[in-house]
Amino acid sequence: MHDLDRLLRQDRHWVHPVTALLQHEAQGPCIWKSADGIHLTDIHGKRVQDAFSGLWCVNAGYGQPSIVEAARRQLETLPYATGYFHFASEPAIELAARLTSLAPEGLTRVVFGQGGSDAVDTAIRLVRYFFNATGRPEKKHFIGLQRGYHGTSSNGSGLTALPLFHRYFDVPTSDQHHIPSPYPFRHPQGPDDANVLCSTVKALEDTVTAIGAHNVAAFICEPIQGSGGVIVPPGGFLKAMRDTCDRLGILLIVDEVITGFGRTGPMFACEAEGVSPDLMTLAKGLTSGYAPMGATLISEHIYAALAEAGKDGTALGHGQTYAGHPVSAAIANATLDLYLEGGLLANGLQVGAYFQQQLKQLESLDCVGEVRGRGMLAALEFVADKHTNAKPAAALQFGQQVLKHAFAEGLVFRAFADDILGFAPSLNYTKADIDTLLAILKYAIEKAAASAR
Ligand SMILES: Cc1ncc(COP(=O)(O)O)c(C=O)c1O
Repeated sequence: MHDLDRLLRQDRHWVHPVTALLQHEAQGPCIWKSADGIHLTDIHGKRVQDAFSGLWCVNAGYGQPSIVEAARRQLETLPYATGYFHFASEPAIELAARLTSLAPEGLTRVVFGQGGSDAVDTAIRLVRYFFNATGRPEKKHFIGLQRGYHGTSSNGSGLTALPLFHRYFDVPTSDQHHIPSPYPFRHPQGPDDANVLCSTVKALEDTVTAIGAHNVAAFICEPIQGSGGVIVPPGGFLKAMRDTCDRLGILLIVDEVITGFGRTGPMFACEAEGVSPDLMTLAKGLTSGYAPMGATLISEHIYAALAEAGKDGTALGHGQTYAGHPVSAAIANATLDLYLEGGLLANGLQVGAYFQQQLKQLESLDCVGEVRGRGMLAALEFVADKHTNAKPAAALQFGQQVLKHAFAEGLVFRAFADDILGFAPSLNYTKADIDTLLAILKYAIEKAAASAR
């Protein structure tokens, strides 16, 4: 049987993540075969420029020889080592120390995992443990933002606030709450930054008051809401949330799964506002997607309570077989080298500024309501009417049409369901790569607009 026919038949056994299953059965998969630099090549040999870093994770770009070599060396010398029962491996130890030295002040300990969903799940579990162990067992409620995304674990999916992740899954639970997103473009109070910030602070205060501060454990947020449509809150948002959480006596969890590792410029988005959360979740850019890995960083006061709770010799009952996997850790260490000594972070800062400036020019198009972003993370939101900001008719599937035309010309990015396009170029992009991205994007928007007329 021809290879492609075989693969198409075999793919019917794979229930793909976040995919409309019947639609997938009808259309079949797009099968990537290889990748280099910023390009992906499919099984037919079609080469496409990746403007989304895989799934906002391949921050270093594809085919980085130093990462491949680090993985190969680690696979040869020690392909697996548990972190349980006092065992360890060199790369995981080194990575824990490096992450805490790069992280915002106070985040001194690392719990390793496999990806973003379980990093969030770990954060939730440790917060519960912390309050139970310190004699405040009634502090059970968590508050997140509408349009937030925190993965799909049984716990975390309830803090996610996008309808499809709730439907039929019995989440959110009664101890999970959401306040309006700091979304200036569509905020009921208008786009004024100060109003958006004030009303977000007030919504958190009101929600905590309604539940009772003594019942609330933590507030969780992304510095920029990624899967919710790359929603960029006003400057000062994280700082305002930090101050509010402190005032209310609740913990702050910052989910940097997308925004970490240079995505918005600095190593972590918290850095830009000088904010130290109590817990911080990481994944994606940690290994640049070359292997699965996530991490939950916790502050010393939380660690101290966890340690104290086990002073009778009871182990902390949390962990997974692959927590601190040595191959993933070796890959993460090689990736950190590229961000730092390899100059990727610096390149991302420079090219990211150019990207934002060039992309912003598309706001002059009639169908573009807003271009927003920071560094190598951006969105473009379509409207049917620039005065009212009304959305295009859903039946047009305008964003999907733009993606279809762009893909035909050799560019891939993300088209969210509500006519928002998302971009996350890797940090190895050049200005010329950005120019190519923009030329194809502009062509694709104009083509979709012409057929919508
Ligand atoms: C902010 C955020 N948190 C958590 C997750 C879940 O990560 P994963 O898909 O690795 O489980 C994601 C994934 O996109 C994310 O964007």
